Amino acid sequence: MIKLPGLIDPHVHLREPGATHKEDWASGTQSGLAGGYTILLAMPNTDPPIADEYSYSIAATAANKKSYIDFGIFIGAGKDNALTAADLAPRAAGLKMYLDQTYGPLHLENLTFWQQHLKNWPVDYPIAVHAERRSLAAILFMSVLYNKPVHICHVARKEEILLIKDAKEKGVKVTCEVAPHHLFMTDEDIPQDEPGRGEVRPCLVSKKDQEALWENLAVIDCFASDHAPHTLAEKISASPPPGFPGLETSLYLYLNAVSEGRLTIDDLVLRMETNPRKIFRLPRQTETWIEIDPEFSWEIKATNTYTRCGWTPFEGWKVKGRLKRVILRGETVFEDGEIVAKPGSGRNVRLISTSD
Ligand code: NCD
Ligand code: ZN
Ligand code: ZN
Ligand code: ZN
Repeated sequence: MIKLPGLIDPHVHLREPGATHKEDWASGTQSGLAGGYTILLAMPNTDPPIADEYSYSIAATAANKKSYIDFGIFIGAGKDNALTAADLAPRAAGLKMYLDQTYGPLHLENLTFWQQHLKNWPVDYPIAVHAERRSLAAILFMSVLYNKPVHICHVARKEEILLIKDAKEKGVKVTCEVAPHHLFMTDEDIPQDEPGRGEVRPCLVSKKDQEALWENLAVIDCFASDHAPHTLAEKISASPPPGFPGLETSLYLYLNAVSEGRLTIDDLVLRMETNPRKIFRLPRQTETWIEIDPEFSWEIKATNTYTRCGWTPFEGWKVKGRLKRVILRGETVFEDGEIVAKPGSGRNVRLISTSD
């Protein structure tokens, strides 16, 4: 049995408010718990988006009542909320800026909006950005210009990881995460008969891009799931929304990579706990850990998962390593596939005192 700290997922989409048929704060945090996470940070591209006091309070109220694990809530950067967002900073996981088109209405096309947010957001609070290709180069420059460090979400391409590597070498304060589907899948995994299942942003990329991510593991600060649940019916429809569920598969893909010798357990803990905690300034959870059976071999299946979306892009994948037990604040909250915690036992990470 291996004992590890409770994992932290800094990039998760729970669909409440607005699309609870895909996920809500109960199902999403159960899914996180079943995947070995004891903290998740929720993205703001809900309906309405989390972008002001009112929408923040809708999400926070649902989270307080339903959450099974600790959580933070991002504020979305919009076209007219730079001051409001800055006011909410102490209660937020961070600011999220969508610099390219993806799921939801928060795309910031105009550079003026980037400037307003970068100037107003307080420097001690995190900023996470969806920035692909040329948007990445632009935000790195502006982050230096306005002296606001940024965390780059779901880096997928060779050009992107190499740009971040060079920026880090020049002393630019930038951190990044990679999602499991970009490390373990390529564009060759897009199903020919149901291509909607393969839709995700950033897109599934080439073998060459995937290899560049593995070759530059040292540049990758975090393994985030980018859990982005949409139902199977939506995925195979005429206009499939982009996004893959990931909370209940990420740990296993990484544990399997450990069993194959592609990663070490230390590589995993650094990117799934230590670094996310530092980058997002998260409190240490007292008496909290997870227990793993590293020898257990099994097959990933969408049945028996807690997420509401009902499918996984990793269906049928064989993996080695299984979560046995999760202990949160001294209490067993998950054991042998069963959730033992009560809804509402999760806390907002920004309200937990850091002296804990
Ligand atoms: C995400 C979603 O569905 O909210 N989709 C995705 O393909 N990654 C949005 C995002 O993270 O860009
Ligand atoms: Zn747009
Ligand atoms: Zn994104
Ligand atoms: Zn996302």
